[in-house]
Amino acid sequence: MKNFEFKNPTKILFGEGQIAKVSSEVPADAKILLLFGGGSIKKNGIYEQVMSALEGFDVVEFGGIPANPEYAILMEALEVIKTKNITYLLAVGGGSVIDGTKFLSAAAEYDGDEPWDLLEKRIPTLKGMPFGTVLTLPATGSEMNSGAVITRADTKQKLTMGGAGLFPVFSILDPTVVKSIPQRQLANGLADSFTHVLEQYMTYPIGALLQDRIAEGIMQSLIEVAPVIMKDPTDYKAAANFMWCCTMALNGLIQKGVPTDWAIHMMGHELTALYGIDHARTLAILTGSHYEYNLETKREKLAQYATRVWGVTEGSVDEKAKAGIEKTVGFFHSIGIDTKLSDYTDDYKGTGAEIAKRLTDRGMTGLGEHRSLTPADAEKIVEMSY
Ligand code: NZQ
Ligand code: ZN
Repeated sequence: MKNFEFKNPTKILFGEGQIAKVSSEVPADAKILLLFGGGSIKKNGIYEQVMSALEGFDVVEFGGIPANPEYAILMEALEVIKTKNITYLLAVGGGSVIDGTKFLSAAAEYDGDEPWDLLEKRIPTLKGMPFGTVLTLPATGSEMNSGAVITRADTKQKLTMGGAGLFPVFSILDPTVVKSIPQRQLANGLADSFTHVLEQYMTYPIGALLQDRIAEGIMQSLIEVAPVIMKDPTDYKAAANFMWCCTMALNGLIQKGVPTDWAIHMMGHELTALYGIDHARTLAILTGSHYEYNLETKREKLAQYATRVWGVTEGSVDEKAKAGIEKTVGFFHSIGIDTKLSDYTDDYKGTGAEIAKRLTDRGMTGLGEHRSLTPADAEKIVEMSY
């Protein structure tokens, strides 16, 4: 196992009815900016729950943060923060609203002229404006990590940012929010969280027994709850497990002491930037091809995964590894997610080369756990995904 440091300061309030406790987590004298998305919270009762809990607090609202949080819109929110002397941010939404709030937390305390530099120049945020979250969509893990992904439509960019100052102070995880989530987003949440575990697990053996078992446990739990939650999102037991799995998949714990890959995400972000494909679906498009292309370096973990997670006991290491890839693609199909780029766009020719160029321009010339995956490799993986 590699040496590591681990600190996750986010307080989690988990379970039915916990939204009412938002009032005890936000400082009484705070001037709050409540941030939300396209309006789902006003239809499913979450907005009312939050607002009634915050009765007597000084709250300003900013809605309209779109899926794949858009820089131009966030800059409007930044203006509100400055003109209304906001001191505390409260994100009520999924990964996009929470990520947008993280950007604002950083931008509010940033001295430079152009907040986009936080992303373009990868400036880490060590101290941001404090913020809490009320999670409405289990998927990204953003509610308990310090990363964010922001989109800029005018330049077709989707870039990451983060830093130790961008953990939420608290996050409220009430699994009853799952019941209003549309099928497409439920599937996205399952696929995204599953791939988060894969990115931190499917590398090479390093003797981290506990990290492996936790990762496998999260994947097994997701596989178990997936058909239940897709059929009946009001099933509290399934929703609770789904929600906690998504948080645990990307709160930093399982990546400690082990090598991590993240190439699927890096290539996937480019597919969203180019075609607007949902984040989780870009991952489903690339995962099978990425593992087939890198079978040589990932075969032992692929075989271990096939055996422990999917119960594949027959065959050589290579055969098990290939079975693991097939099972993974089958899992995406089982929740209604297509796994070829051509399922999403007719305009896919040349995408591999375009992504290779974008990675090169950004200096991302060594992806994967060995930092050896070149833009030319990425080009081939994307082409295998057409
Ligand atoms: O905008 P509203 O009206 O709220 O509707 C949203 C949105 O249309 C809807 N929704 C959310 N909760 C709902 C609901 N509809 C009904 N009932 C509810 N309870 O779902 C739609 C998608 O929301 P979004 O927040 O975009 O989804 P998700 O949580 O999947 O977030 C995706 C974003 O997170 C980034 C992605 O790149 C993408 O931009 N990621 C962030 C990560 C992080 N910070 O750690 C890691 C991930 O790998 C990912 O890259
Ligand atoms: Zn993801």
